[in-house]
Amino acid sequence: MLFKTIIEPFRIKSVEAVKFTTREEREKALVEAGYNVFLVPAEDVLIDLLTDSGTGAMSSAQWGALMQGDESYAGSRSFFRFRDVIQDLTGFRHVIPTHQGRAAERILFHTILKPGMVVPSNTHFDTTRANIEVEQAEARDLVIAEGKVPSLIHPFKGNVDLAKLEKTLAEDGDRVPLVMVTVTNNSGGGQPVSLENLRGVRALCDTYGKPFFLDACRFAENAWFIKQREPGQSDRTPKAIAQEMFSLADGCTMSAKKDGLANIGGFLAMNDDELAASCRSLLILTEGFPTYGGLAGYDLEAIARGLEEVVEEPYLRYRIRSTAYLADKLTAGGVPIIQPPGGHAVYLDARAMLPHVTPLQYPGIAIANALYLEAGIRGVEIGTVMFGLHPDGTEAPGPMDLVRLAIPRRVYTQSHIDLVAEGVLEVFRKREELRGYRITEAPKVLRHFSARFAPL
Ligand code: F0G
Repeated sequence: MLFKTIIEPFRIKSVEAVKFTTREEREKALVEAGYNVFLVPAEDVLIDLLTDSGTGAMSSAQWGALMQGDESYAGSRSFFRFRDVIQDLTGFRHVIPTHQGRAAERILFHTILKPGMVVPSNTHFDTTRANIEVEQAEARDLVIAEGKVPSLIHPFKGNVDLAKLEKTLAEDGDRVPLVMVTVTNNSGGGQPVSLENLRGVRALCDTYGKPFFLDACRFAENAWFIKQREPGQSDRTPKAIAQEMFSLADGCTMSAKKDGLANIGGFLAMNDDELAASCRSLLILTEGFPTYGGLAGYDLEAIARGLEEVVEEPYLRYRIRSTAYLADKLTAGGVPIIQPPGGHAVYLDARAMLPHVTPLQYPGIAIANALYLEAGIRGVEIGTVMFGLHPDGTEAPGPMDLVRLAIPRRVYTQSHIDLVAEGVLEVFRKREELRGYRITEAPKVLRHFSARFAPL
């Protein structure tokens, strides 16, 4: 290509107005929300970076596919299209649709876990962890040490520490029903896992006779990083790399709200016939008949088309570059972020930004609220509120205190991102004035969604 500008590889056919609010209105919204941006109405948010989950824009081909949806209860044509696309990508024999990723997690874990079991991973996402802990099993995070140091540059910070995994398998192997790897590693900063590392996990699983499942939510972004960063991979297509990633595993859970480029949906896929039969029984109980699993026929169509679009090179080049573009601007302004930036999000290092706010005063909440107040931008705390409360009721600092700015797919343009950078830099300028928070009320599980706070 002659020109260096990487453009959005689409043009816009339909637009949605965003609402501008005043600082006073945002102040009021925060008070009403108990200083938890999850509880702020989305209409009062100018640029919503709360999540990249289900918030993407569908293509005209996906909208067209919706009209092709076959709403038959059993054996719908849309299911077969959905299944064929997923089998082509993953090679897994059984494809079980679910209404989103956590439903796949619940079905898998409720089927195979017993109290006291251990599920190792690089880093479990919060819903994955919760679905393991609710079965009274342990979710054990074994990411490499580099993955826990925000400022450290490493090409594959999502990698599993293979020595630690081997130790777990050797010492607690009889309690491990499967090994899981999250690609990309969302809770660790959207960081990729290398093919070499996945091969290492496969080899250990073979030695110890354990099944290996991917949490595949952002498999295409992971494949793009492999193409860019792993020796010998640059000439392969993202799809071929993704196919190899899946070929190393025995199954996966998937939220199609991320790299399915859909607004809802997910699936559970695997090779094991017996496990699939048990999972389908539970699916029928809680999600629906195995050819729709809680989704409409048109959802299955949108996901099938989305999974084809998400591995296209122009899309992935633009996608990963737009995240790095925001990271570059923040880094140039001195803002501490997880380096290198992840695929779907930039993670602000709130603990480093606010050394005067201790982890149990929730620096991530302080930054998230300041960003909303200053600029109407919504991010999410991934830190002590999300991970600091343990099943026994004790509270301790989370591994990191981050604020994630997740970029919805194909939604915001470069000028939106320029404004986000300005907003973060303004919060950074005022960082010494920011104070911490205390929790005034919170549920015992997944407290970050609905906790209420008061400023200190
Ligand atoms: N696994 C990972 C790595 C995720 O990031 C998510 C969701 C899930 C599983 C669960 O999928 O939402 O479809 O039930 N992550 C969203 C986020 C919520 O904002 O990162 P789900």
